[in-house]
Amino acid sequence: MEKTYRIAIDGPSGAGKSTISRQVAAELGILYVDTGAIYRAVGLFMLRAGVDPSVAEAVAPKLSSVSVRLAYDGRGQRIFLGDEDVSDLIRTPDASRAASQVSAHPVVREFLLEMQRDIARHSSCIMDGRDIGTVVLPDAELKIFLTADAEDRARRRCLELSERGTPQAFDDVLRDMIERDERDKNRPVAPLRQADDAVLLDTTGNELEDSIAAVLKIVREKFAEL
Ligand code: DC
Repeated sequence: MEKTYRIAIDGPSGAGKSTISRQVAAELGILYVDTGAIYRAVGLFMLRAGVDPSVAEAVAPKLSSVSVRLAYDGRGQRIFLGDEDVSDLIRTPDASRAASQVSAHPVVREFLLEMQRDIARHSSCIMDGRDIGTVVLPDAELKIFLTADAEDRARRRCLELSERGTPQAFDDVLRDMIERDERDKNRPVAPLRQADDAVLLDTTGNELEDSIAAVLKIVREKFAEL
């Protein structure tokens, strides 16, 4: 059987994980899996169902109605709720907040765990998230923890939002980011933390190209064949 490579990339929001992971995966010719999108889709589902995403008791009974699925096309990863492609809809500030809230509930994390593991079982991939190296793929062959200081991350997120045509004020983005970081780091289940065996990469002040090159260097040092 062909050898599979699992690369786990974790870190706080706005550290550049998805952009960097997507480009590194393309360069290596392996799959890129954005697990944040899965939590976002669950958050969006709850908002639409009129459920408060921060209340576990309200979210839990709705989970069995959530049908979330990943697909890949020329634009990369697409995410579906039932038959609806929600890849763009999950990027709004409301969906971001709802994602962070639902992700704090153990019942939601448990619900999504096997789905994430299953993807990595079948193909080489770079999977990014918050708990990939610690919980989802503790046996990943390579783990990288990507971080950058909060202001730098907020600046990047602002740029990304403007490019998407949904600009927001820097102060609001920074405040939301700090609030989300706190929730992601302090939740009792699978909090955001660096796995003991992860390589730390701080991208503060880096140009995107430098960060991509740094990740590729770490990957190629680990897997000479890639
Ligand atoms: O990476 P992102 O910003 O799209 O993630 C959205 C939210 O989902 C974020 O607040 C943290 C949460 N998340 C998580 O708890 N575990 C993951 N593996 C990925 C995301």
